[in-house]
Amino acid sequence: MANLPHKMPGKALFVYSMCLLSLIPIIKAAPTFRSIDCNSTVPTDQALCSGVTTDVCRDCLDYAKRDAVVRCPGSKPFSIVYDECTVRNSTVSAPTIEGVDPTFSWINCPNITLTTTGTYAPNSTYEKNLASLLSVLSSNSNASNGFYNHTVGTSTPDGVYGLFLCRGDLTVSACRDCVTYASTDVVQQCPRAKQVMIWYDECILRYSNDSIFAVQETREWVILVNPQNVTDETRYSEVLGEVMNNIAARALSGDSRKKFATGEANFTSTQLVYGLAQCMPDLSNFDCDSCLRNSISKFLYRYRGCRVYFPNCFVRGELYPFYNLGVGGAPPPSPSPVLPPPPPSTNSTRWPGKTFFCKAWIWDIILKF
Ligand SMILES: *[C@@H]1O[C@H](CO)[C@@H](O)[C@H](O)[C@H]1NC(C)=O
Ligand SMILES: *[C@@H]1O[C@H](CO)[C@@H](O)[C@H](O)[C@H]1NC(C)=O
Ligand SMILES: *[C@@H]1O[C@H](CO)[C@@H](O)[C@H](O)[C@H]1NC(C)=O
Ligand SMILES: *[C@@H]1O[C@H](CO)[C@@H](O)[C@H](O)[C@H]1NC(C)=O
Ligand SMILES: *[C@@H]1O[C@H](CO)[C@@H](O)[C@H](O)[C@H]1NC(C)=O
Ligand SMILES: *[C@@H]1O[C@H](CO)[C@@H](O)[C@H](O)[C@H]1NC(C)=O
Ligand SMILES: *[C@@H]1O[C@H](CO)[C@@H](O)[C@H](O)[C@H]1NC(C)=O
Ligand SMILES: *[C@@H]1O[C@H](CO)[C@@H](O)[C@H](O)[C@H]1NC(C)=O
Ligand SMILES: *[C@@H]1O[C@H](CO)[C@@H](O)[C@H](O)[C@H]1NC(C)=O
Ligand SMILES: *[C@@H]1O[C@H](CO)[C@@H](O)[C@H](O)[C@H]1NC(C)=O
Repeated sequence: MANLPHKMPGKALFVYSMCLLSLIPIIKAAPTFRSIDCNSTVPTDQALCSGVTTDVCRDCLDYAKRDAVVRCPGSKPFSIVYDECTVRNSTVSAPTIEGVDPTFSWINCPNITLTTTGTYAPNSTYEKNLASLLSVLSSNSNASNGFYNHTVGTSTPDGVYGLFLCRGDLTVSACRDCVTYASTDVVQQCPRAKQVMIWYDECILRYSNDSIFAVQETREWVILVNPQNVTDETRYSEVLGEVMNNIAARALSGDSRKKFATGEANFTSTQLVYGLAQCMPDLSNFDCDSCLRNSISKFLYRYRGCRVYFPNCFVRGELYPFYNLGVGGAPPPSPSPVLPPPPPSTNSTRWPGKTFFCKAWIWDIILKF
């Protein structure tokens, strides 16, 4: 502390201390590196965080972009994996043909080489129950509200609980296509795991050896972003943040058949923002509300597109229409809407501001000596 400028007034000393405190996260540990592929053929530009705070996620994504340039010189498409996040940058464009396969988004598949209790044996009762569950889900994929849950077996080690949920704007046939595809794709992508959750743009399929119906889960989540920055983050977060609060309120006002809402707003004179919020319809309004609030609080407004998936709800915002316009879900809630408060302090503009502010202080101090 001997290096402090002399005769610092109390207020300045306070600001200085706050600045030092705020610098602590800047001198943070790099994310834990796992692997890199400098010739990635995964056809999406995507970044993902799983189960970490928004700050850790954002820092990891920033770090990854710098790190990838060092590890993969020559700007090749890469896929870099840390414990905290995964970032892929690909020059291969994603398939855009409509009406073919659903667009795979993410799978929560335990690493079965690390877990023995989480896996089932070939030809086991669990495997048979699972096959039967997937076939029931598939044949009920024409459920008119795009949601279905089912259980096969009741005895503890072999009972399998499963469900699917389609994005709320899909037609019955689009939903059926996604669920049918998912029910075979999921076991190929994640063989032998007892608990799996797979997300496509169009639907979610999930199964587990534990009951998963109407159970609120807040410990696991996934954040997926399009890693390109938006042009005006402040305006984007204001406009999309308002859309998010709005549609969250409308989604939770839906009944036990569907809890879904979409909304648009003007970002620039020519550009709209598009938001979507959806809960598992078997969730209580209270749980749907808290799940959506949780999701919105993790939303990263810096990027051109972001999705936050929890096991029971998800939100997504983009600069292009990614759902069928005009299928807006639940109508605006009547007389006294249960408006959620603004998103808890996910102030994504905070970081650059603070850093800049502290840089000014450091210069100030350096210049005094
Ligand atoms: C990258 O992968 C493609 C297709 O698999 C292959 O043709 C190419 O040679 C690879 N490039 C490098 C630098 O390994
Ligand atoms: C990722 O790829 C895009 C083009 O596909 C490029 O503009 C961008 O700079 C890349 N990002 C990084 C961090 O390399
Ligand atoms: C699973 O864990 C093993 C052992 O740590 C590791 O070698 C392997 O790469 C992991 N697999 C995946 C898909 O992460
Ligand atoms: C489900 O599997 C997990 C292991 O992944 C185990 O810890 C849990 O006890 C199982 N639950 C039931 C009801 O068997
Ligand atoms: C599973 O059953 C099939 C036919 O019922 C058999 O061919 C196969 O060897 C069995 N696999 C194991 C690991 O027992
Ligand atoms: C769904 O399809 C099955 C046959 O595949 C049919 O028996 C059932 O009535 C259909 N349900 C609805 C709601 O259309
Ligand atoms: C579906 O979930 C509800 C709870 O939301 C549960 O009461 C019901 O038993 C489940 N149905 C099946 C077939 O498992
Ligand atoms: C995105 O924004 C962050 C922080 O605002 C900045 O550090 C980064 O360089 C930007 N990336 C691109 C590709 O513009
Ligand atoms: C965007 O602005 C135009 C006029 O500037 C207006 O007609 C339109 O309704 C607005 N759209 C939304 C979604 O607010
Ligand atoms: C974010 O921080 C800025 C500057 O501190 C403040 O003006 C703005 O109101 C904050 N936004 C939110 C959503 O908290």
